[in-house]
Amino acid sequence: MNLFFVFKDGRLVTPRLTDTILEGVTRNSVLTLAKDEGLTPEERPISIDEWREGAASGEITEVFACGTAAVITPVGELVSENERIKLAAGGNNEIAMRIRTKLLDLQYGRSEDKYGWLTQLV
Ligand SMILES: Cc1ncc(COP(=O)(O)O)c(C=O)c1O
Repeated sequence: MNLFFVFKDGRLVTPRLTDTILEGVTRNSVLTLAKDEGLTPEERPISIDEWREGAASGEITEVFACGTAAVITPVGELVSENERIKLAAGGNNEIAMRIRTKLLDLQYGRSEDKYGWLTQLV
């Protein structure tokens, strides 16, 4: 899966592509759909420290994973041996769910495919 972080000022941050970050088709779709939702995508490294601080301060409002199998799945908490990182301002995953609905509507032909992503097989 790929990971996305929603910031309260409308930024949507995901790690930039490296040799360990896969250029997922869902990742690409989310980056496109997010712009249409008025979000500002940023592809850059994001550290655990930034996750921890943003979660505590309320700067990060949502974290979600995406991929073909996962579609878009909210991440409630990051758990390690030493700590649990939970969003202070989290809860409704409104943006994740909005993007998920948009993506599924497109995939199932319920909305107009204005990006030309669908391929007719038969
Ligand atoms: C390491 C990794 N990152 C991301 C993804 C998501 O890619 P996609 O959106 O193309 O399914 C996958 C899917 O298998 C994966 O294995």
